[in-house]
Amino acid sequence: MVSMEKVEIEKPEGKLGVLIPGLCGAVSTTFMAGVEMIRRGLREPYGSLTQMQTIRLGKRNENRHPLIKDFVPLADLDNLVFGGWDIYDMSAYEGAKKAGVLKQEDLDLVKDFMDSIKPMKAVFNKYYVKKLDGEHIKPWGNKMELAQALMEDIKSFKKEHNLDRIVVVWAASTEIYIPPSEVHLSLENFERGLEENSKDISPSMIYAYAALKSGVPFINGAPGLTVDFPAMYELADKMHVPIAGKDFKTGQTLMKTIIAPGFKARMLGINGWFSTNILGNRDGEVLDDPESFKTKETSKLSVLQTILQPDIYPELYGNIYHKVRINYYPPRGDNKESWDNIDIFGWLGYPMQIKINFLCRDSILAAPVVLDLVLFMDLAQRAHLKGIQEWLSFYFKSPMVAPGLYPENDLFIQHAKLKNFLRYLMGEELITHLGVEYYDMF
Ligand SMILES: NC(=O)c1ccc[n+]([C@@H]2O[C@H](COP(=O)([O-])OP(=O)(O)OC[C@H]3O[C@@H](n4cnc5c(N)ncnc54)[C@H](O)[C@@H]3O)[C@@H](O)[C@H]2O)c1
Repeated sequence: MVSMEKVEIEKPEGKLGVLIPGLCGAVSTTFMAGVEMIRRGLREPYGSLTQMQTIRLGKRNENRHPLIKDFVPLADLDNLVFGGWDIYDMSAYEGAKKAGVLKQEDLDLVKDFMDSIKPMKAVFNKYYVKKLDGEHIKPWGNKMELAQALMEDIKSFKKEHNLDRIVVVWAASTEIYIPPSEVHLSLENFERGLEENSKDISPSMIYAYAALKSGVPFINGAPGLTVDFPAMYELADKMHVPIAGKDFKTGQTLMKTIIAPGFKARMLGINGWFSTNILGNRDGEVLDDPESFKTKETSKLSVLQTILQPDIYPELYGNIYHKVRINYYPPRGDNKESWDNIDIFGWLGYPMQIKINFLCRDSILAAPVVLDLVLFMDLAQRAHLKGIQEWLSFYFKSPMVAPGLYPENDLFIQHAKLKNFLRYLMGEELITHLGVEYYDMF
């Protein structure tokens, strides 16, 4: 039985630091420039649930639909302070220019602000991201010392900007595929691995370790293992901090998790789902390396499995040919184009085809996801929640879940879960959509 008592939540007073590994990349700069334009009243926060969405409370005839931001105590956008790390020594303004997501006339509106954001030196090693070469990096050495250097960065950023709280969000490049191994199994193993420079500990894991050790929530926006293994669960538990991931849900996978639940709801079978993409940003270039692509592919492929449940419906989904391709095509920049060909079948096995051509803007879809995650993770922090925040799976391609559980990838289940979780936090009645109370049925 779920308790209806409101969870104790501290007020969002003071400044909230947002520290981003990958500070000068496309997602980060689109996010920060957008927040500043919204703060200055120049643009609307389209795509953000925390800023625009309402939540129904009580019965359908009560007409209670407050904005989410008026219902739960979220940090005000004016109180966000940005910083982070990157392997390039450039301002966020230069990074945004290079990413080419925002038009120059939009960027000009916040040039002063974006110019003032400069990255700290990164923890980076080319072994983990083959396609990049950076010069703005901490001298590579003992991984425990690197973690300590990041903890110092977090501490001094907090002091310098007089912050009350911090959230770290990984929006840096996708690293090579690292499967879980011995070193990830316990905190003791992991800390020994840091001391002994284990090859299975990538930079993103070092950032995650440093954040959690500093008592700071960590969000993983990329598909890597990063904070999703037993040693990190143990550390999050010990330090009492929330963690969330992985891989921001945007573009083609967002579409997949919107459409596939519909086929399943109508018991339409699927024979094949071929997905291909062209994109020309730096993310596309990094993913051109087969080892980084493997990390992304694993994340992208997993969604259909858990939505369609071929083990339960073998006759409908037991034989799907699911293929995902990402092609690096520089002329397109951040304006990715994706094609999906879906071979479905219905009554008597008659085949049908669906073609989807999505001309999307990856970072435009990702920016509000980053904003919501930062604000909700800060809420989790003030509500004294710890460990995996599964209610945030709405925002991820490959949601983290408790060991032994399968993730919910259906966007609509994720959405209902998120809103019910907010009701739960605030001691409001959960909504089941049963609706018997409106009818005289018996
Ligand atoms: N754009 C989207 O819609 C989307 C969706 C899901 C996931 N992601 C993931 O988010 C991440 C960022 O995407 P992007 O399009 O902004 O990529 P990007 O290449 O524009 O930016 C990544 C930034 O990370 C920096 N970086 C790399 N390694 C680093 C390290 N160890 N420490 C600090 N900085 C480091 C790079 O220099 C670069 O500035 C990628 O991993 C991508 O796969 C993006």
